[in-house]
Amino acid sequence: MKRAKITIVGAGNVGASCAVWAAQKNLGDVCLLDIPDFADKTKGKALDLAQCGPIDRFDANIVGTTDYADTADSDVVVLTAGVPRKPGMSRDDLIQTNVKIVGSVSEQIARVAPGAVLIVVSNPLDAMVYTAWKKTDFPTQRVVGQAGCLDIARYRTFLALELGCSVEDISALLMGGHGDDMVPLPRYTSVAGIPVTQLIPPDRLTAILERAKMGGGEIVKLMGTSAYYAPAAGTIQMAEAIIKDKKRILPCAAYCDKEYGVGGYFVGVPCVLGCNGVEKVIEVELDADERKLLASSVEHVKELVAVADGFLKA
Ligand code: NAI
Ligand code: 2OP
Repeated sequence: MKRAKITIVGAGNVGASCAVWAAQKNLGDVCLLDIPDFADKTKGKALDLAQCGPIDRFDANIVGTTDYADTADSDVVVLTAGVPRKPGMSRDDLIQTNVKIVGSVSEQIARVAPGAVLIVVSNPLDAMVYTAWKKTDFPTQRVVGQAGCLDIARYRTFLALELGCSVEDISALLMGGHGDDMVPLPRYTSVAGIPVTQLIPPDRLTAILERAKMGGGEIVKLMGTSAYYAPAAGTIQMAEAIIKDKKRILPCAAYCDKEYGVGGYFVGVPCVLGCNGVEKVIEVELDADERKLLASSVEHVKELVAVADGFLKA
C-alpha cells in the first residue's frame, strides 16, 4: 500500500512542530515547504527530523523544500504559512499580511496537489480558511480549519487541572470562530459521563471558560509569539483522522450553510473527519443563550471574511 503524504506549508514554529507529530505518529511521508529565504533552514529541519527515525522508529521520507513540485500527490496539505501575532496584537491584526500569503500559497497548492484535503492553520483562522477555499476552488468538504482541536484541548486541560483528574476523562464541545468570542459549551461537557456542572461551581467554571477563551493570548504574553506545540498536536489529530479515515468527531472550522443557520461561512462546529475531509457537520441542539453566543461569534467571522474579501479583490 502506498504511504500517505503530508505537506506542511510554512516550516516555522507550528509547521515544524506539525512535522514532528506527523513523523512520530508514523502518518506517512512529510514535505516541509517554506520561502526561498529559508531554503537551507527548511532543509536542515527536515534532515534533523529524518534523523529521529532510527530512534523513534518511523520510516517516513522527510523533505525540506521551497519547490511546490515536491508537494505533488499530497493527501493532506497543512497550511501554516504566515505571520503569528506578537504581544498586544489580536489574531485579526494579521489579516492583511496573511490573506496575501495564504492566497498565493493556496493557488500553488491547487495546481500541484489538486486532490488533497487542506487543513488551514494560519490566522485569523476562519477568514484564512475562506481565503484558501476561494483560491483553491476545492470542494468545501476538502477545506477545513484547525482551531477547535486546540481550543478544546485548552479547555479540557484547565478542567483537569481544576478537578485533579485525567485529561482523558474530560469530554467537551466548543463552537464558533477562533477568537476570544469562541463558544465553549458547559452543557455538553462531562467528566467520565458526569456533567461538569455537578463537579465545578458556576463561578469557577466561568473563570475556566474565560481562561480557555483567552488561552492563545496567555501564551503570547509569556512567549512573545503564539503557541505551537498544542496547535500542531491539534492539527495532526485532524490529519490522522483524515489519513486513517477514522471518522473522528472533532471540532473544526467547516463550511456551514444551512447548518446552524450560518449561511455560507467556515466556522467551528463538530464534524466527522475521514478520508474525504469533512464528511458531515453534526448539528447539536442549542438553547437560546448558546444560540446567541454562537450567532455573535459567527457575526465576527462574517466581518473578518468581508475584510479578507476586500483584500482578495484589491
Ligand atoms: P512562524 O513565523 O514561526 O512560521 C511561519 C512560517 O511561514 C515562516 O517560516 C515563514 O517563512 C513561512 N512563510 C511565510 N510566507 C510564506 C509563503 N508565502 N510560503 C511559504 N511559507 C511562508 O509562525 P507560527 O508560529 O508557525 O504561526 C504560523 C501561523 O499559524 C500564524 O498565522 C499563526 O497566527 C497561526 N496559528 C494558528 C493557530 C490555530 O490554532 N489556528 C495556533 C497557532 C498559530
Ligand atoms: C492560538 O490560539 C495564536 O491562534 C493561536 O494560540
